[in-house]
Amino acid sequence: MAKAKVIVFANQKGGVGKSTAVMNLAAVLRERGKTVLAIDLDPQHTLTDFWGVTEPQYTTYDLLMSDGEWRAYETDINGYTNGPIIPAGDQLAAAELELMAGSPSWGLALTTALEPIKPHYDYILIDSLPSLTVLAVNAIWAADGIIVPCQTEIAAFNGMQLLFTTMSRTIGKIRKRYQMLDQVIAIQPTRFDGRIAHHKNVLEGLRQLYGDKVSAPVKATIKYSDGSASHLPITIYAPEERAAWDDLADRLERWADNGEK
Ligand SMILES: Nc1ncnc2c1ncn2[C@@H]1O[C@H](COP(=O)(O)OP(=O)(O)OP(=O)(O)O)[C@@H](O)[C@H]1O
Ligand SMILES: [Mg+2]
Repeated sequence: MAKAKVIVFANQKGGVGKSTAVMNLAAVLRERGKTVLAIDLDPQHTLTDFWGVTEPQYTTYDLLMSDGEWRAYETDINGYTNGPIIPAGDQLAAAELELMAGSPSWGLALTTALEPIKPHYDYILIDSLPSLTVLAVNAIWAADGIIVPCQTEIAAFNGMQLLFTTMSRTIGKIRKRYQMLDQVIAIQPTRFDGRIAHHKNVLEGLRQLYGDKVSAPVKATIKYSDGSASHLPITIYAPEERAAWDDLADRLERWADNGEK
């Protein structure tokens, strides 16, 4: 039976394209015949909105706080089926405090909750939130691999480096010699505009520092906002933009095939 690889999309900086990456990579992997579960671990529930799930009965709050049956949702909108997803709701913010108050092993709640789900999918893609919080630590802890979308601007670059050092320190207190960068499958440059010198400089800086971990840049275009507002991945909404997503999927599959768990 398949045992899902758990992939977390993380960057401490907001608005860099984490949720966009989960939606589009899930679509490409599903095209390739893979079974993919998306999980929205952000109380802003952007990914859930991209999917078009409204007022779900079961959310990631339930996933974290109860050990009962789990549920995933699919949506069928504009002729496209998005799914499955475990959506987020407003109450997810409360999970942070409840986890901290409820258990000394607060960092492991997601890892534990995913165990019964893993046999059902090839990949579980987790959309994390733009902060270093209890939920973010839970996500990184549960990850087999991490994908870091990074806008080609210096603030996103700095946010990413802060994420690496803070997570390495936090998780390193428990897992000896933990280095978050070792778990990074790809750093995906996002919202890249080749006409802007600053973007080119940051892309160059990323490549110098992280070499082969840097995947094909995602072009800055309004098609992403328009596509996700229509609940459609870029492969359907604007297939001419798909090369960056095929590259990211290739990298993920190579990593998975090498058994790097
Ligand atoms: N390549 C791109 N070009 C232009 N706009 C983009 C691109 N990628 C994403 N966007 C848009 O930028 C906004 C932020 O993207 P997204 O929600 O994916 O970022 P995020 O990192 O998940 O944000 P947050 O940190 O708030 O969770 C959205 O409106 C999205 O449609
Ligand atoms: Mg997001």
